[in-house]
Amino acid sequence: MENLHRTTFDNQLIELDSVDSTNNYAMGQIHEGMAFDGLVCLAHHQTAGKGQRGKTWISEPGQNLNMSLVIVPQTLDLSLQFLFSASVSLGIIDLVRKFYPNNWSIKWPNDIYWNDRKAAGILIESVIQGNEWLYAVAGIGINLNQDSFDPEIQNAVSIYQITGGKYEAIPFAKELVPFVQMRIARLRVNPEEILMDFNQNLYKKDFTVDLKMGRDLFETRIMGVDSKGSLLTTNGSFNWGEVEWIVKK
Ligand code: BTN
Repeated sequence: MENLHRTTFDNQLIELDSVDSTNNYAMGQIHEGMAFDGLVCLAHHQTAGKGQRGKTWISEPGQNLNMSLVIVPQTLDLSLQFLFSASVSLGIIDLVRKFYPNNWSIKWPNDIYWNDRKAAGILIESVIQGNEWLYAVAGIGINLNQDSFDPEIQNAVSIYQITGGKYEAIPFAKELVPFVQMRIARLRVNPEEILMDFNQNLYKKDFTVDLKMGRDLFETRIMGVDSKGSLLTTNGSFNWGEVEWIVKK
């Protein structure tokens, strides 16, 4: 009998050797009417991986996890977009804590940090029609096995460098997806819980840090984030893009 219910991970995964960007590929699937909730597009190499703020995401071929998870937000309101991204970050952190329990945090707005180094990044792209959030593509890049990074990439770290273990992308994705989906299920019933958990895991919360606004550098204490994703500090609240972190080398 035809398998009408996509219950195994295999038939929800498209594995690609190489693609420009798994986010672009997933968007293509959406536009062709081929996408569904839970579809994973995974590539062993991205020729034009996309990072936040229009930056390129550079990742050594065959070493890391490059994947995009399609989520159909359905009843999720567009006002929950920040908490949606927070849910994806929390799903990742829930899993990596199983490999190594300590020193993980989420650097505002959604980078996964281990101590002061970035282990994973997230790029969420959406299809929105009017007020309806039709699709979200959660692009997830996790440094799995890479042992050295281009000096241009500041503060990167891989799961291998943290744990000493090597990880294959597909089994890793297979473990990760339910953690992310679980957090999104929680978001549907209790957005406050996601905000609270995000703040509990927020990088440098209650610490004094250096931020940059335009040309101005200033010192401030991180208090938390609000449900719209603004960073709350002792110098006021900031939207994403208004301020930048100063990375100390
Ligand atoms: C960032 O921290 O700047 C976000 C990085 C997101 C990278 C992932 S890798 C899989 C997916 N495809 C892309 O082109 N980007 C995301």
